[in-house]
Amino acid sequence: MPNENEKSRFTSVSRRLIIYIVLTSTVITLVLTAVQLFRDYNMDLRGIDTQFQQIEKVHLLSISETLWTIDTEGLRIILEGLENLADVVHVSVIVNDKILASVGTDNIENTISQDFLLVHNDGETEIAIGHLHVTADLNTVYQRIFDRALIILFSNAIKTLLVVCAMAFIIHHIIIKDLKKITDFIKSQKLQGQYVPLELTRIGFSGHPNDELSILADAINSMQTELRMGLEAKDISEQKLRTLIDTLPDLVWLKDTNGVYIACNQKFERLRGAKQSDIVGKTDYDFSDREQADFYTSNDSEVIATGSLNRHETEVVYADDGHSELIEKIKTPMYSSDGELVGVLGVGRDITERKKLDEQVRHAKKMEAVGQLTGGIAHDFNNILAIVLGNLEILELKTDKSDERQDRIQKAKNGVKRGADIARKLLSFSRTDAEEVSILSINKFVENIEDLIAKSLTASIAVEIELAKDLWNVAIDPGDLVDALLNLSINARDAMPDGGALYIETANKTLDQEYIRRNPEGRVGDFVMISVSDTGIGMNEETREKVLDPFFTTKEPGKGTGLGLSMVYGFVQRSGGHLKIYSEVGKGTTFRLYLPRVNKTALQQHVEVLDERQLPTGSETVLVVDDEEELRDVAVFYLEELGYTTLVAEDGLQALEFLRDKPGIDLVFSDVVMPGGIDGYQVAKTVHEEQPSIKILLTSGFTKKKEEIRNSDDQYLVKLNSGMLDKPYNREELAFAVRDALSEDD
Ligand SMILES: Nc1ncnc2c1ncn2[C@@H]1O[C@H](COP(=O)(O)OP(=O)(O)OP(=O)(O)O)[C@@H](O)[C@H]1O
Ligand SMILES: [Mg+2]
Repeated sequence: MPNENEKSRFTSVSRRLIIYIVLTSTVITLVLTAVQLFRDYNMDLRGIDTQFQQIEKVHLLSISETLWTIDTEGLRIILEGLENLADVVHVSVIVNDKILASVGTDNIENTISQDFLLVHNDGETEIAIGHLHVTADLNTVYQRIFDRALIILFSNAIKTLLVVCAMAFIIHHIIIKDLKKITDFIKSQKLQGQYVPLELTRIGFSGHPNDELSILADAINSMQTELRMGLEAKDISEQKLRTLIDTLPDLVWLKDTNGVYIACNQKFERLRGAKQSDIVGKTDYDFSDREQADFYTSNDSEVIATGSLNRHETEVVYADDGHSELIEKIKTPMYSSDGELVGVLGVGRDITERKKLDEQVRHAKKMEAVGQLTGGIAHDFNNILAIVLGNLEILELKTDKSDERQDRIQKAKNGVKRGADIARKLLSFSRTDAEEVSILSINKFVENIEDLIAKSLTASIAVEIELAKDLWNVAIDPGDLVDALLNLSINARDAMPDGGALYIETANKTLDQEYIRRNPEGRVGDFVMISVSDTGIGMNEETREKVLDPFFTTKEPGKGTGLGLSMVYGFVQRSGGHLKIYSEVGKGTTFRLYLPRVNKTALQQHVEVLDERQLPTGSETVLVVDDEEELRDVAVFYLEELGYTTLVAEDGLQALEFLRDKPGIDLVFSDVVMPGGIDGYQVAKTVHEEQPSIKILLTSGFTKKKEEIRNSDDQYLVKLNSGMLDKPYNREELAFAVRDALSEDD
């Protein structure tokens, strides 16, 4: 509904139109009337003038005659006749400036008069005898003009009035009514909701009017459609943008240059525990403590001052559920389309997982590097120990049993054994492939070694074993698993000096993506889980981070090497599983070993206990190949003592020469890693090809080489590899290995 103001504006448009029409019509009427009246006036004046000319032509001669003959009566009659002429009001004859005769009145205003000379013509000369003075009345002319003016003006006034009424009606129906409709339509438009186009009922001569108002209505309709389409497109793109920002897994927020929030996404709403509508208009001081808010504000100010982005990591706590995240915050200056700095855009990405993963990768790399290092050291260490042990055993044999030096020899041998144990553990940690993989049922395995575990504990520790039914099988090296479980049990014992309980459990576990998200070191799949828990002293964060490092121990010197868990870690890694440690100071520790499931039947597994066996002897000829003289000497001593004949070669090349030149060699006992370009494997291959009846026994302290061969395609080398004698070896181990090699089928 139009208000009063608008109403008067409507009336004023039509009124002004009417006034303009009236004024224009009046002015035109007046001008045309004036022109008309002026013409009429001139015509009237010309009529009087014609009258005067008539008088001159018709009456002047007769008046002159009557005057010449002094016919007064005749003169009077003529003058009265003239006075009756239209508009003539007074006629007089003047002779010698005296009025001789006069008719009519001459005391009226607004007259027009003319004098005519009266002459007498006697045939030769003309004699002036007087004047005729005729006066015509102009008042009647004026009266006529006035009357006519009145009639014209009155009729025009009536005409104008009628035209105005008609115009007012027409203007209202043709323009004002539809203008009002257009105004009402525009005012009622909301750009949302149902759209009804503007329709005017215009009547035209042709039936389909195409006047300005129809065109205006069409223009408004198409503008309306365009606007709606534009608005719809804008809504869609705004919606898309909003969905995009809300779908982002990052925190997104916008602040103006005064630190006031302008917008944010749904994740940010969760951080603040408030809806966007409650965040917008507020500052960090409304949500965080002063110190924190000061920090955020100073970051924003830095971005605004430098115009460059600012990046830092921070821990945030979500107000909605209280969980925390380590986020990387990036703040960027935000500019309007005309380049004006309007605020700061903040994006926060959760890097908790990434950090965890980085840490995981860093740890894995560290373990790999340490593994390589220790593997290398252990190899050399083994060779040295083999020399020491061999010489000690020679000394032992050469020394009388009752000699008191035997005791020293035994002590030295024990020291070497400890050293060998360390080297074995180091190799067990650094190896990437299992030695002898068997398919096992863990439950049976645990039952078999239960006694062994119990023996490793003190009486004050109770052992509880809970084995899951239908446990899946695993493919692992059983020796590794014995080492691992014994180690974990001994660790548990040491963590419970005052007694407690040790639980060993087994279970089938399927690890899914969700588990991997939280434990990036694992992988998706089916696993057999063995957990070893104790109720001991537990570990603090610092210890927990280092327990897998080789040589990390909190035990007194001599009590622990710090290699136990490194071995467990090495074993689980090369089995394709992973290790999880849960520990709480004062409450206890749980180690969980996840070993990958295999879909094969388990072999019957028993833990071998070596009997004291009679050492096998022989009389065959053995070629000992080793680049280290001391090791060669030890081997030669043992072999000759066992009855064998020996030959020695310093490297692969020399060994091959001997084999070609010297007949009668039954066995080649060779080191694997040797200088001179020909290693033990090459020697073995050549011998096998050229003299297949000669047997081969390899020895090595370096497992890496062994692992390469394990994956080789050459079945002969793989077979040789499985019978390899690990350094350091003792007399007994050498005796059995040599005998086994010699009795091997071709
Ligand atoms: N169950 C446990 N409870 C508390 N701490 C433990 C436990 N197991 C291991 N640890 C800690 O981890 C360290 C390293 O253990 P690891 O088995 O690798 O070496 P160690 O037991 O010290 O020596 P080694 O096993 O070579 O005899 C231990 O010294 C101890 O501090
Ligand atoms: Mg240990």
